[in-house]
Amino acid sequence: MMIGEGAEARIYLERMFGTEVIVKLRGRKAYRIREMDETMRRRRTRKEAGIMLAAAKAGVPVPEIIAVGTFSMYMEKLDGTLLKDTRITARHMASAGSALALLHSSNMVHGDYTPANIMSTKQGIRIIDFGLADTTMDVEQKAVDLLLMKRAVSRTTYASFESAYAKNSRNAGDVLRQLAELERRGRYQTRTMMG
Ligand SMILES: Nc1ncnc2c1ncn2[C@@H]1O[C@H](COP(=O)(O)OP(=O)(O)O)[C@@H](O)[C@H]1O
Ligand SMILES: [Mg+2]
Repeated sequence: MMIGEGAEARIYLERMFGTEVIVKLRGRKAYRIREMDETMRRRRTRKEAGIMLAAAKAGVPVPEIIAVGTFSMYMEKLDGTLLKDTRITARHMASAGSALALLHSSNMVHGDYTPANIMSTKQGIRIIDFGLADTTMDVEQKAVDLLLMKRAVSRTTYASFESAYAKNSRNAGDVLRQLAELERRGRYQTRTMMG
């Protein structure tokens, strides 16, 4: 059963050996040249799964990956609510901040770190949607992860996030300086739109 459709992928809820699993499938894009389309979908699927596995190894709370196909990824079905659909607490944000610090400390960025991609479960928060994630040491890309969160939540909520991030990240100083610089420039939006 399809439960979601984004720009890049469809999300299905399937039953496998009596257990519910989530399948994220990158379907064909008819407007792209066939061969290029397959290469892109294959590469992005591998990259998303690879980064999720590395993130899990680094201690970032992510859903467990069950299997990876050419264009699909099977993962644990989380039982919870997205932060965007719940009352966000300081505790949620502290966990989200330290999770991001762990990710960044292992040279990965999420690319879309907002309350729409963090789920609150009984066992704590889980980070999802690594479709835009990347392996990089780039301070600006790390700062963008914080900037997107800063723009998405209230000032006080963000403060809990940032202080947990700073406490748990090795080069938080550089990242926070870069964040201030991005805000000063105030033209990040257009730059990402351009790629
Ligand atoms: N492991 C999971 N468990 C439960 N729900 C999930 C899981 N992964 C994704 N979802 C649901 O599917 C939606 C879309 O998944 P996501 O990976 O964010 O893809 P998109 O790129 O379309 O945003 C999420 O907002 C969430 O509601
Ligand atoms: Mg998403």
